[in-house]
Amino acid sequence: KSRTAVAPCSTANLGPGYDVFGLALDALKDKVVIKASSTAGDRKITIKSSDQAIPAVAESNSAGLVVKSMMRDFHIGDDIEVQVTKGVPAGYGIGSSAASAAAAAIAFNALYNLKIDRNRLVEYAAEGEIASAGIKHYDNVSASLLGGFVIGSKGQFIRIEPPRDLFLVVAVPLSMQVPEKKTEVARSILPKDVPLKSVVHNVSGAATIVAGFALKDVEMIARGIDDVIVEPVRKHLIPGYDSVKQNAMSAGALAVTISGAGPSMIAFLKTCKNANMVAAAMAKGFEEAGVKSRTFVCRP
Ligand code: HSE
Repeated sequence: KSRTAVAPCSTANLGPGYDVFGLALDALKDKVVIKASSTAGDRKITIKSSDQAIPAVAESNSAGLVVKSMMRDFHIGDDIEVQVTKGVPAGYGIGSSAASAAAAAIAFNALYNLKIDRNRLVEYAAEGEIASAGIKHYDNVSASLLGGFVIGSKGQFIRIEPPRDLFLVVAVPLSMQVPEKKTEVARSILPKDVPLKSVVHNVSGAATIVAGFALKDVEMIARGIDDVIVEPVRKHLIPGYDSVKQNAMSAGALAVTISGAGPSMIAFLKTCKNANMVAAAMAKGFEEAGVKSRTFVCRP
């Protein structure tokens, strides 16, 4: 028996919402097929991936980790094959590991008819983030699983339907060599202590973003996207960060930030009118730093 699920890519943080905000993007998707066979019954997990760069060992693979923890908790004794078809490129900050993890959690839940509620399913999917980030974080998986804009932390995930006139332009610097365990590296450089002034600034921005989603006001969302804690540190990992941001703003973007842990950059727009111009401007910014990128325009 087998079950298939797909889950979309996502952007995390949205500036000041580090590890709390996630937004599903209607663009690239991962597909996961989970097959069970009870013949040998020694609980073996085999990973097959369309992307050879993805770890094939269950313990280092985001979908594999999800399956492993669900098998343990529900005492499943079958052998499991996990087939991952990657549509979301790994290592660029657009929730690639999360898309596989979310799809794996959905498919496994369906295969064994476990009837797990959605909050708990997010918990399982977050297990998969240990493979790339070293710890569980919920922002990408909750968005990938629930769709839309999600405010989340352990245990509770609040979903808000995004405004219909919100458009995003994502620039993925595909020619850039991203280190293995990139998310873990991008987290390790962050400050352990933060000045109260910066916390106040970011809380104000995060609150404005939530209000913007609740009131369906794209301009308000964009005004909140200004992070003075994480972004100033991480921007040095992204060649062309300043020009990508400046170019996008000059071309009509309302806000630009790092997507998740980077190195992709994401621009927020009201209507799709300037989207192609913003995409070209962002690509030019990366090009100036010697990096080739792929851009896409999408909606949440
Ligand atoms: N919130 C996480 C981070 C997202 O910024 O490290 C990683 O995709």
